[in-house]
Amino acid sequence: MDIRPTRTIAVANGKGGVEKTALVINLGAALVLKEKSVLIIDMDPQFNATRGLGIDIGEGALTVYDIIMNDRYQNLLFDTTIRINTTIAESTAVGKPVIFYRPACHGSSDFVELAEEMINRG
Ligand SMILES: Nc1ncnc2c1ncn2[C@@H]1O[C@H](COP(=O)(O)OP(=O)(O)OP(=O)(O)O)[C@@H](O)[C@H]1O
Ligand SMILES: [Mg+2]
Repeated sequence: MDIRPTRTIAVANGKGGVEKTALVINLGAALVLKEKSVLIIDMDPQFNATRGLGIDIGEGALTVYDIIMNDRYQNLLFDTTIRINTTIAESTAVGKPVIFYRPACHGSSDFVELAEEMINRG
């Protein structure tokens, strides 16, 4: 399997209307033209990036905004936190789930806790 590094780019500026959304849409499209895989996550309640990409989410669609803001979707969020752990990055690079690579590290115990939370919720 081809494992390629992933880069996360966050675009932020306290001032409105300074090309944040336009940057995301157009840099994303330009990277795709360069044969990069791009995932744009639109967390803005104005959903301008979604609209700017010509995507019609339709009435009543579940969005990231709903999951964060509405109590009725809170059960889709888990309490377990996966802490930053360099062993997880290493395990990905060697092609093993972290619980097989370093069972005793924090990353492994966090994922075991997440699995337990999922199972307990049914
Ligand atoms: N390089 C540019 N040249 C001309 N117009 C631009 C350029 N970049 C952005 N715009 C226009 O400026 C306006 C504001 O841009 P954009 O929506 O990207 O800003 P924003 O920072 O995301 O704003 P907001 O704070 O409202 O989310 C839009 O109408 C956009 O089309
Ligand atoms: Mg914007």
